[in-house]
Amino acid sequence: MLPVDTAAQQQEPAESPFGWLADADRVRRAAGLRRELRPRAADSPLLDLAGNDYLGLTRHPEVVRAGADACLRWGAGATGSRLVTGTTALHAELEAELAAFTGFEAALVFASGYAANLAAITALTGPGTLLVSDAANHASLIDGCRLSKATTEVVRHADPDAVRKALQGLHDGTARDADGHQGHGDPDARALVVSDAVFSVDGDAAPLAGLVAACRAHGAALLLDDAHGLGVMGEGGRGSANAAGLAGAPDVVCTVTLSKSFGAQGGAVLGPAVVIEHLVNAARSFIFDTGLAPAAAGAALAALRLLRREPDRAGRARQVARDFHRLLAERGLDVTAPDACVVSVRAPTPGSALAWAARCRDEGLAVGCFRPPSVPDGVSRLRLTARCDLTGRQVRRAVDVIAATAPPR
Ligand SMILES: Cc1ncc(COP(=O)(O)O)c(C=O)c1O
Repeated sequence: MLPVDTAAQQQEPAESPFGWLADADRVRRAAGLRRELRPRAADSPLLDLAGNDYLGLTRHPEVVRAGADACLRWGAGATGSRLVTGTTALHAELEAELAAFTGFEAALVFASGYAANLAAITALTGPGTLLVSDAANHASLIDGCRLSKATTEVVRHADPDAVRKALQGLHDGTARDADGHQGHGDPDARALVVSDAVFSVDGDAAPLAGLVAACRAHGAALLLDDAHGLGVMGEGGRGSANAAGLAGAPDVVCTVTLSKSFGAQGGAVLGPAVVIEHLVNAARSFIFDTGLAPAAAGAALAALRLLRREPDRAGRARQVARDFHRLLAERGLDVTAPDACVVSVRAPTPGSALAWAARCRDEGLAVGCFRPPSVPDGVSRLRLTARCDLTGRQVRRAVDVIAATAPPR
């Protein structure tokens, strides 16, 4: 028998199967699209406009304490899928209170908002379904569409007429998938329209009234991703669907994340009880994923209760976003008008966006830098998030820094 190390050497490939990665890296560098992980200090002195902590809750003592208490009581992890190890009282309370707060009949929490989106799309569709997806949808919705094996029509951003036209194809048989194959034409065919309720890059709100009208004209269901709306949109932060009078409707399902305005981690699907029961039985990212960690469930529940007590946080965060927009526009920057708490400022190139974000950081300001492929239109941007706990002075200083460090246009 060969010694162990000789046997291993004999098995080594002549050439690395990962040799192509160096070429891919060169291409990314040349295009200014290389991504790097930066260390983050617990006590960073930077003013944070890069995260999504819209309500300033991620370090709120009540939220942190509830997370720590949940960890002490239930352990550091959920230990398995909830179908295997059971549902804690904490998960049940969180689901009941989330549903009641947003106005939906029922809720199911997931380990992330990403997993919630995969679950809702894949469990509610299949090869016979027509999926209609906004061109600016979040990657997790896009991945849900890809996994679903449904015929997916990507339609122009925020365009209910384009949605109507796509749905029309459901019954007349003209709907085509990405490869141009014609499908449907079946009078019983199902359709699901999916859209961010607040778009993650530019912060604009979806035209919900137009979307639901288009859906109802064709018997389609509507799935809204309210990751950036929960906690900031609607009365007291009850979310975009609630604000539009769609919460609790039998044909509307909503996904949310607990990682943005709730300052914790995790996601949820909200909808009719029959949908939630179906997800428990059919959603692979629920069935085959370890349940939401108790600490995250406890922290999210505390954040939700705090928001119910202090509903003004939602309106204050939106006001800060409007202040950012007004002041940045006054400086001549190409800034989007926010419907919620995301404000984005366009940059000429990916490289200039990256350098701009670095100059901001040098001046004490953390901002997001979005470049392709994270931006559907290929335009790189600085992405700022408003928080309800920012003072007027902090907002003015941030605007000064962003304007002073801007690349020439
Ligand atoms: C619109 C949208 N949907 C879903 C997600 C995913 O949520 P999570 O980070 O909880 O997985 C995000 C987060 O980046 C998002 O912006």
